[in-house]
Amino acid sequence: MTAKTLPGIENLPHAEGVDLTTLTSMATPGTARCVVTPPDAEALGRLLRSLAEAHEPFTLLGDGTNVIFTRTEVRSLIIRLGAGLAFIEPTEAPERLRVGAATPLAHVLNHALRHELAGFEWAVGIPGTIGGAVVGNAGTAGRGMGDLVVALEGFTRAGDPVALGRDDLRFEYRDSNVRHLVVTVVELALTPSERDAIRGRMEEARALRQRQPHGDRSSGCIFRNPPGDSAGRLIDEMGLKNTAVGQARVSPDHANFLVNDGDASPEDILGLIDLIRRRVADETGVHLQTEVILLDPDEESAS
Ligand code: EPU
Repeated sequence: MTAKTLPGIENLPHAEGVDLTTLTSMATPGTARCVVTPPDAEALGRLLRSLAEAHEPFTLLGDGTNVIFTRTEVRSLIIRLGAGLAFIEPTEAPERLRVGAATPLAHVLNHALRHELAGFEWAVGIPGTIGGAVVGNAGTAGRGMGDLVVALEGFTRAGDPVALGRDDLRFEYRDSNVRHLVVTVVELALTPSERDAIRGRMEEARALRQRQPHGDRSSGCIFRNPPGDSAGRLIDEMGLKNTAVGQARVSPDHANFLVNDGDASPEDILGLIDLIRRRVADETGVHLQTEVILLDPDEESAS
């Protein structure tokens, strides 16, 4: 089936034969058959309903900053949210913001700073979109984006509209009960605070991040922290910093980050993840769980 025959995409911006390195921050190589970018929520809903009617599988991708493709040829459709879903709007309550899921988290932080709204200064340096950050409850030790979310809009995968309030939402360590939804809008409850105080807390958070690799092809932390411990500390203690499998390497800066030295294949990355897990399990008895999403879009959509 060529992209031309994929249901619902004919009048939407889409690209065929897309270079996979452009879709995730880990930049694994390969090709996606088709990536479609519905410009707004209405177009997205229509697309989802067309795909559901035709039983056509798809994978939703944000900025790909916490995702690693585990295959090089992706046949199923990839959906990314378009520019109409990148917005920050005031609400009737001055400390609440309505934010489109495709908005970069960094833009929301800057907007909050300008409007003297506080609450997630700790998130400075977290890449990706607010939608991805909320769905995966991105955060630092003990804190997550979910703490701020009071309402959320989106669609089921079949294209039915969904509106959820705080009581419907569950967030836990790097996880939520809305992963199965296509989230379009989140409403954040922030706290009024002076700009200089916010800026100060942002600087502190930025300083904490200095030890993390910058500018490398990476997906942030690979493993969840085991209860009461740090995956980075454990991996470092095993002497695994700088260990490489093919073109995938344990970052010399922070041991819970893997970096792509150039052309790391999914096999290189999975091989390195496996090596780390085995070494840590053999020597400490701790079974590390991945935090990053290892994504095989074709298998995922088939299930
Ligand atoms: N440590 C080492 N060696 C290393 C890395 C860390 O000894 O190579 C030690 C540190 O010295 C420190 C402890 O481990 O005593 C914890 O390290 P760090 O403060 O860097 O925090 P982390 O637990 O490794 C968590 C999040 C990060 C987040 C930081 C911000 C997880 C898995 N990781 O890291 O999130 O940026 O806190 O403080 O929850 C991510 O989710 O992608 C991510 C990077």
